[in-house]
Amino acid sequence: MDVPDLPDGGLCALVGPPGSGKSTFAARYPDSWRVCLDVYRRLATDSEADQSATPVAAEIQDLLLDARLSRALNVLVDSTNVFPHVRAGLLARARYWQRPAVAVLFDVPLSTVEAQNADRDRVVPLHIVREHHQLLPDADQLHREGFTAVHLVSELLATPAALRRAAHR
Ligand code: GTP
Ligand code: MG
Repeated sequence: MDVPDLPDGGLCALVGPPGSGKSTFAARYPDSWRVCLDVYRRLATDSEADQSATPVAAEIQDLLLDARLSRALNVLVDSTNVFPHVRAGLLARARYWQRPAVAVLFDVPLSTVEAQNADRDRVVPLHIVREHHQLLPDADQLHREGFTAVHLVSELLATPAALRRAAHR
């Protein structure tokens, strides 16, 4: 997969259902950039899935967002971010600190997401995967919300192969 350059000191929201590849993508960037509600839920309760810890996880995430954005350090938000009000909160933090905000949209077909989800240790219930997949916005919506750039995973996945094909012509 092609890995886009992210704006210096900005926020990057990963937007995609469970199993779509967000954490795999985030692992290509420095570890310190990543904030992740799953991680903070686990630190609070020993379970990534314990939704009762979402409020405390969100507080930890907000603290880190402010700590990093105020210093113009990159932040990669590795959560589903499929709900508009969640993205609005991220955009508000970036705006407050006058930092750019971009999105990476995991526009991965449902069948692929289901297969990737089924084939890993932590399997998320199918109905949750499907609900989140249905909520996926399109790039125009993300632009309208205020993201200055939107990278589509479908295009990032296509790029290396397209370049290889061009090189062999
Ligand atoms: P949640 O944390 O549940 O929201 O999922 P996620 O979006 O972070 O997905 P994750 O990165 O954990 O990937 C889910 C599974 O898909 C893992 O087993 C990955 O190894 C696999 N995976 C991720 N990206 C790709 C990809 O581009 N191709 C293939 N074949 N597998 C992938
Ligand atoms: Mg993940």
